[in-house]
Amino acid sequence: MCGIIGYTGDKSAQQIIIESLHALEYRGYDSAGMSLFTSEGIRTLKTQGRVDELDKKAKEYDLNQSNCGIGHTRWATHGKPNETNAHPHGTQKLMIVHNGIIENYKELKKILIKKGCVFVSDTDTEVIAHLLDMNYTALNDKIKAITQTVKMLKGSYALSIIFRDEPNTVYGVKKDSPLLVGVGKGENFLASDISAFIAHTENYLRPEDGETVKITPYEVDVFNAQGKKTEKPLQKSANTAEDTDKCGFNHYMLKEIFEEPKVLLKTLDSLTCNFLPCFNNENDLTFFEDIGSIRIIACGTAMHSGLVGKFYIEKYARIPVTVEVASEFRYSDPILDEKDLVIIISQSGETADSLAALRLVNEMKLRTLSIVNTPGSTIARESEYVIHTPAGPEIAVASTKAFSVQTLVLMLLALRLSGQNNEFIKERIKSLYSTVTDSLHNVITDTAAIRSAAKILAKHRNLFFIGRGCDNYLGTEGSLKLKEISYIHSEAYAAGELKHGTISLIENGTPVIALVTDDAYSEKMRSNIEEVKSRGGYIISVCAESCNKIKDVSDINITVPEDDTFARPLTAAAVLQLLAYYTALELGRDIDKPRNLAKSVTVE
Ligand code: F6R
Repeated sequence: MCGIIGYTGDKSAQQIIIESLHALEYRGYDSAGMSLFTSEGIRTLKTQGRVDELDKKAKEYDLNQSNCGIGHTRWATHGKPNETNAHPHGTQKLMIVHNGIIENYKELKKILIKKGCVFVSDTDTEVIAHLLDMNYTALNDKIKAITQTVKMLKGSYALSIIFRDEPNTVYGVKKDSPLLVGVGKGENFLASDISAFIAHTENYLRPEDGETVKITPYEVDVFNAQGKKTEKPLQKSANTAEDTDKCGFNHYMLKEIFEEPKVLLKTLDSLTCNFLPCFNNENDLTFFEDIGSIRIIACGTAMHSGLVGKFYIEKYARIPVTVEVASEFRYSDPILDEKDLVIIISQSGETADSLAALRLVNEMKLRTLSIVNTPGSTIARESEYVIHTPAGPEIAVASTKAFSVQTLVLMLLALRLSGQNNEFIKERIKSLYSTVTDSLHNVITDTAAIRSAAKILAKHRNLFFIGRGCDNYLGTEGSLKLKEISYIHSEAYAAGELKHGTISLIENGTPVIALVTDDAYSEKMRSNIEEVKSRGGYIISVCAESCNKIKDVSDINITVPEDDTFARPLTAAAVLQLLAYYTALELGRDIDKPRNLAKSVTVE
């Protein structure tokens, strides 16, 4: 949902901003722009399309001497993704870039127009520029003007601002949108995310909502909402520049799938001791005691891991679990009990819908656990108990390794809550280790069957995933992955439900991906497959090596290793992710940056 960057230092601001925008491009990529201080004042360049377009444009001008500026890569919310609406926006006095949504922009715009302001774009952001200009004119103090301006805004924002009368200085302020200060030697940064400056510094500060930041090459000042200077602890990022490098892979998505064995092993190592679950706050034993039921709240892929988690927790811990789409949670007028545990799952830790749900639950003073991949993110900070998923940064818009790690954490949680004897739990955790260190590697490297299936899928506009039990839930994720990067329409169905209506859509050649990772379902799944086959469906099955009942009735079979059934979702997930990847590759799609999407969805 838009990436923002501000830079001041001794290097070429143009180059740093382009580099940083490339790193932030996962947040939005429909237009880009930057404003740089030059000897003739501030120079602004904007383009429709990707950061590469902006780079090309910038190379036509000789702006390399500039050492300070701001930049933006956009995911449009207000106004078409064209050059006029691209950021930065500004006035005679200042330029700003914005990530977020100003909910009261229409009211403010009316007032500002009456006062004589002239608007050139359709964005909500331009309202902030004019308001800030007016407040700065009235107060003649930048911190006071920023503080006054944000008091008038409703909604979410992370802003990076430069004033024409103060070269080499960038200001920033945030509410409900991420903004970090990268602290370097003789250079400082403001950015939506660490990846924007990790190549230059691993040290950063995290301003709170309402705090205003001022950076110059040698100083970082943070002011509280009353305008008083305040101290912030310097933090060190665990990420490295290599985390955000493609490392020879053609796409981040493939690189991230290949990282699964490593990050899943890291997860097992960090959340188990002697093959038993042991979470970070294990001294706080009361947290997991006396749970009546569990609500899992999340969006998209994270929500799908919650569905797999539901299956495991209900099966092994016998605690009822409901999984809810975060954006709908508040409208369900939720009925929660003091014994309930609410689990929020989020890769980014910044998803606005999930955060809004968490805040609602916090108001109800209930137990909250978040499973979050980004340390220090808002969801992590506002939850009572946090389990960090060590998947590392995910750059591809389609989430893969984070899903697998979230799923593994929920499997471990199911065992933690299960009350089963230690021997049973140890056996399951040993099987997870064996899958992660051994068979998963074979799945991601031996992809001949997956590629053959992808060739078939690429020729169709509609297809289905079917499964029973946990496979039904895995199918929802396989379907989402395929839709988002290949643009083929697909639906995931409980295998037994298809015949209650949707089977009418099966015609000659319609691909149906049948998941049978649990042999217990093979008899019933075979019948469901036969039903589809007799109507012309083309069956691509994903089942264990020994499962001949399914292979016999399949047109293509992709085998998952004969591991303990408990661990099979991890290998099946990798199969489905690769199936989506190779189908999209076959169709020549822009795999890492699919159309209309952005990685971190910080608007509701
Ligand atoms: C799909 C995908 C999205 C996210 C969803 C939640 O590949 O990545 O569906 O899973 O937007 O994002 P987080 O996990 O950051 O809360």
